[in-house]
Amino acid sequence: QVDPMRVGLRSLTSNSAPTRVNYGHRCSNAYSTCCATKPEVQPVETPSSDMLVDSFGRFHNYLRISLTERCNLRCQYCMPAEGVELTPKAELLSHDEIIRIANLFVTSGVDKIRLTGGEPTVRKDLEDICLHLSGLKGLKTIAMTTNGIVLSKKLPRLKECGLSALNISLDTLIPAKFEFMTRRKGHSKVMESIDTAIQLGYDPVKINCVIMRGMNDDEICDFVELTRHKPINVRFIEFMPFDGNVWNVKKLVPYAEILDKVV
Ligand SMILES: C[S@@+](CC[C@H](N)C(=O)[O-])C[C@H]1O[C@@H](n2cnc3c(N)ncnc32)[C@H](O)[C@@H]1O
Repeated sequence: QVDPMRVGLRSLTSNSAPTRVNYGHRCSNAYSTCCATKPEVQPVETPSSDMLVDSFGRFHNYLRISLTERCNLRCQYCMPAEGVELTPKAELLSHDEIIRIANLFVTSGVDKIRLTGGEPTVRKDLEDICLHLSGLKGLKTIAMTTNGIVLSKKLPRLKECGLSALNISLDTLIPAKFEFMTRRKGHSKVMESIDTAIQLGYDPVKINCVIMRGMNDDEICDFVELTRHKPINVRFIEFMPFDGNVWNVKKLVPYAEILDKVV
């Protein structure tokens, strides 16, 4: 029998929208002048806890930080084939700025940070960022969402540096379809990363799976089957419209329909 706790639907499982720090120039400008070059984390005075309470009265304890706009895949539902125009490096958050911002949020009550992108593993100082985040008092979870292409080799060190939770994106179990959907090869590398994560004790390893009609909706039960014998949670995600991602309502599989196929 399938363990229902290991199968999630994003729209059912997220309790509140996470606080986001984008990788764009506004954040960078706000912090670039006040950051030391040394990655030294000084505690900041506790700001009002109201800072992280939204207009619905919800306290946000979860911050997502986008480490880069770059990605080594070109998933059809996410990016155009030619990629996206990249922000000049000087306007992006440096390692020190990321740690400083994280420190401000953690001091205000954030206890979970997710590193994302773009593809976070293409950032060269990823291990260092994890290491310094793990020194923030009060931060309980450092999570990362990754496509898993280069994760397998990096993961042992990332774990030592404090990476405590993993979401790996995978939308098909069929290698040829993977190449079509991502416009790149690499299916076996992602599968290897999932196995490495399990071997290293990540539990659960979460798999993010964007469902598109006519593309991979026939694989929903195969993904569920993955959870039968391994500590894997599958999170089925509705296909969302982005600029230039050729979203079409006909390709959307609503979560209720996904759930119907699973139960
Ligand atoms: C933008 S990626 C960034 C992190 C990393 N590169 C990865 O692939 O996991 C984060 C998540 O967003 C999902 N995503 C991207 N475009 C989407 C879309 N149009 N609709 C729903 N989810 C999407 C991806 O599948 C992935 O799970």
